[in-house]
Amino acid sequence: MSASPDRRTVLRGAALAGIACFGAAACAGGEQGTSARPSSDAPVELGPATEVPVGGAKLYAAQRLLVSQPTKGEFKCFSSVCTHMGAVLNKIEKGQAICPLHGSHFQVADGKVAQGPAAVPLESVPIKVKGGKLIAG
Ligand code: FES
Repeated sequence: MSASPDRRTVLRGAALAGIACFGAAACAGGEQGTSARPSSDAPVELGPATEVPVGGAKLYAAQRLLVSQPTKGEFKCFSSVCTHMGAVLNKIEKGQAICPLHGSHFQVADGKVAQGPAAVPLESVPIKVKGGKLIAG
């Protein structure tokens, strides 16, 4: 019987280590420059500008980007990596992008924090429209 609590303790520790690794891996990916997120040296085409609703936003999961169109023809682009612990934002509701890990909300129009625990705005990424397509980076 005494082995059971020990086993539970070990499993709990392993689970927590997994969570810690998830956070570290998410952060490390950005630091190593191996993510699909564009830099100023590597612009990325995201597709038709018409896919981003006026007054709304779209998440580009593969590129880890968020593009919004606050007013017709005005596009904003941000990293969709949460500034709290590096999870990727996965939902947009009522003009806010939401982090699945601890629930931070960011305004899609300007990247600012609407609800913590994140305290730092999303990283801004240059964006332009060329031939009707969005080019980020
Ligand atoms: S990683 Fe996004 S709220 Fe913690």
